[in-house]
Amino acid sequence: MPQPRPDNQAHNTARPVLLPAPRTLSPRDAPSLGWGVMGPGGIAASFVEALRRHTEQRVVAVGSRDPQRARAFADRFGIPGAHGSYADVLDDDRVDIVYVASPHSAHVDHALQAIEAGRHVLVEKAFTRNAREAEQLVRAAREQGVFLMEAMWTRFLPHIDVVRQVLETGLLGEIRTVTADHGQFMTPDATHRLFAPELAGGALLDLGIYPVSFASMVLGPFASVTAVGTKAFTGVDGQASIVVSNEAGAHGVLNTSLFARTPTTASISGTHARLEIEGDFYAPATVRLISHEGELLDSHVPARREGGLCFEAAEAARCVRAGRLESDLMPLAETLRIMHVLDGIRRDLGVSYPGE
Ligand SMILES: NC(=O)c1ccc[n+]([C@@H]2O[C@H](COP(=O)([O-])OP(=O)(O)OC[C@H]3O[C@@H](n4cnc5c(N)ncnc54)[C@H](OP(=O)(O)O)[C@@H]3O)[C@@H](O)[C@H]2O)c1
Repeated sequence: MPQPRPDNQAHNTARPVLLPAPRTLSPRDAPSLGWGVMGPGGIAASFVEALRRHTEQRVVAVGSRDPQRARAFADRFGIPGAHGSYADVLDDDRVDIVYVASPHSAHVDHALQAIEAGRHVLVEKAFTRNAREAEQLVRAAREQGVFLMEAMWTRFLPHIDVVRQVLETGLLGEIRTVTADHGQFMTPDATHRLFAPELAGGALLDLGIYPVSFASMVLGPFASVTAVGTKAFTGVDGQASIVVSNEAGAHGVLNTSLFARTPTTASISGTHARLEIEGDFYAPATVRLISHEGELLDSHVPARREGGLCFEAAEAARCVRAGRLESDLMPLAETLRIMHVLDGIRRDLGVSYPGE
């Protein structure tokens, strides 16, 4: 049974405090960078909105393949530079760092252009279509001496720092089992990015990457990975169940789907106790510490649930201003390892993308 620790945050509860407070710094205190957005789509809008509401970051330019789409996005968010090509974002002197928010298939080209232009880069998840492209980006960034990071935003959220500290202190005992899932019901639509093989659509790169990345953070490098899947009508992976293990023989049981909305929860079970993260575990969420007997011992409730993308931007800004080329919270070696895992899962599923 875990014992109460003296150095924890005060909770408004009679129970002893066991879970540590997040060490996450305020995103508002991060140094202010000029951001250029490549790909004014759905996630770019959420990202810019989060930066506007919760940080001092300046979104100074947006690029689209279509000047009118760039202008509409710039007008919506009060962005001074609207460019009708992605290359023009890189010629804009106000841009310190580029946020690549295009479909997976375009990440390698867009990020390479930015790196070669000497810009720091934050690349949406999945980082690239495959490990080979990811290695290309990492090599180029190291050669150019620019900052590069995968925008796996979950890693930077306060509740994940609570999880990280629990793992560091051994509060759960020896970790034996991790579960995580991310399934959404997506109406079958051949024109949607998620069903398009040429855009590297499918459940795995969009949604499955969250449980895979979470299990990797908890278990460390996988010793084995096995997956079964079902394809969607366009041939992309529609659903996958994945079992991983590490050298210590702990397991991760993971699921992703475009066919059904799953609980999107995660859990980490150890020999002393377990953590349960409510759905959506990959967004700001409540973490509960639960005893063998099923008793709720403590919980961490996020201060707010919206705008979670601001934390990854603040981390990137801090790293860039400190002259760092990667983040300790999402190191490039970890991104590469995860891309290799995703390649292996796709081999099991028999899924490849045109032009890979
Ligand atoms: N962190 C998160 O929570 C989260 C959530 C959703 C998605 N994502 C990730 O963000 C990325 C984009 O997803 P999204 O949902 O924002 O996609 P989206 O709404 O379809 O937007 C993608 C944008 O990319 C641009 N683009 C560039 N080349 C393209 C091409 N060949 N085909 C189509 N569009 C192209 C398009 O802008 P123009 O045509 O105007 O150039 C489009 O607006 C993906 O990597 C995805 O996994 C992350």
